[in-house]
Amino acid sequence: MLKLIPSPGPLRGVLSVPGDKSVSHRAVMLGSLADGDTVISGFLESADCLSTIGCFRSLGTEISTSGAGYLTVHGQGLRGLKPEADPAILYTGNSGTTTRIMAGILSAQSFGSVLTGDRSVNSRPMKRIIDPLTRMGASVTSIDDNNCAPLMIHGAQLHGITYRSPVASAQVKSCILLAGLYADSPVTVIEPVLSRDHTERMLRAFGADITTVRMDDGYHITVNPCSRLSPVPVAVPGDISSAAYFIAAALMVPDSDIVLKNVGINPTRDAFIRALRLMGADIELLPEGPEKAPSAGEDPDFLSSSAGEPSADLRIRYSHLTGAEIGGGLIPAMIDELPVLAVAASAAEGKTVIRDAAELRVKESDRISAVTEGLSAMGADIEATDDGFVINGKGGRSSLRGASIRCRSDHRIAMSFAVASLAAEGETVLDDETCVRISYPDFFRDLESLIPGNP
Ligand code: S3P
Repeated sequence: MLKLIPSPGPLRGVLSVPGDKSVSHRAVMLGSLADGDTVISGFLESADCLSTIGCFRSLGTEISTSGAGYLTVHGQGLRGLKPEADPAILYTGNSGTTTRIMAGILSAQSFGSVLTGDRSVNSRPMKRIIDPLTRMGASVTSIDDNNCAPLMIHGAQLHGITYRSPVASAQVKSCILLAGLYADSPVTVIEPVLSRDHTERMLRAFGADITTVRMDDGYHITVNPCSRLSPVPVAVPGDISSAAYFIAAALMVPDSDIVLKNVGINPTRDAFIRALRLMGADIELLPEGPEKAPSAGEDPDFLSSSAGEPSADLRIRYSHLTGAEIGGGLIPAMIDELPVLAVAASAAEGKTVIRDAAELRVKESDRISAVTEGLSAMGADIEATDDGFVINGKGGRSSLRGASIRCRSDHRIAMSFAVASLAAEGETVLDDETCVRISYPDFFRDLESLIPGNP
């Protein structure tokens, strides 16, 4: 349990948010499958990413840590994974990303595997990966016959497919693309809207033959079978999904002015910035070096990048926010930020509608329900819809009041309501804040560092 009080004054300071969770997972995965050593800096040492490390260690990969986000992954090659037992029993904790992407890799191995996670992971939908992997020739079954993990996987020689994904999900896309490295012919995934493309960028950096082509019916991502991946150093940028909490907090607490260093601004991830700008937010991408930073939404190849990932410093100043309609193509590029966007919208003036976000119902918790319950308790005018929210913001910080919040063991719910508490009147109580360890173990320390009166 954690008691939180409103911020006594404006948020000020400069902060480096921890490494991107999606990029950290993928760096360990591709590093394990590469021929040679991959040096990773800025790795996110959170529970989810440690689950991925644990799985690969169980498959024989040596991973050495030298502290402060530095890792060396001693790759075993695409066909070099060596399980401790057959089947390999792999525990993925709370990480849906580990579970779904690993399933693609394991489908092509010469040994069997069982993938299982915690209660939340084992209740999340897996049919979305079972179907395409089965079509590729793998045997993937839900042990409890409910289309959820635990999954039993028997690897096989995989075949190329063209797969039109019913959901814009980077986990599904990445699962199929990594399985495709081992197939006997090319694999194409067609997405209606491009979901986060870290896997494609990193595969390209590791030498795989992968293309993305925009066509009338969506994005066609094609990977060719591959015999080896060549390691490159990976400097993981700061996680925009973690930065989002401080961005929202600075926009909501009067007179705030903060800088967030080295935040990943991949255009498939930056819609939180784009949506907030539509709502009137003052978020500036600061120039790095002699060249000017691009605006959000552009592909700024000239910015410092690694494994194809662009990043920038952000300056955020308190702003008068107004309501907006947020949906369609913006949603996949800000799916994890929608809970905290709803919090910001509750302090904006006017109506905000968030739609096309039914995926929120099958995240670590049902986030539509969790956000609606919490913000209603804080006095916001919010209504849940099947695929989002309708929020009638009253404007100003005093529109929210402190309340008891059920975090549902969901890190993003806990952090979103910590932000809400700063701009509310009275005390807010989080029932269990420890879940922030999933993506941001030092979240409360970093938040405190921006609050006046703290070091
Ligand atoms: C992730 C993709 C997203 C996101 C998750 C991380 C990834 O999930 O919500 O936190 O690293 O690929 P979906 O691909 O299921 O939308």
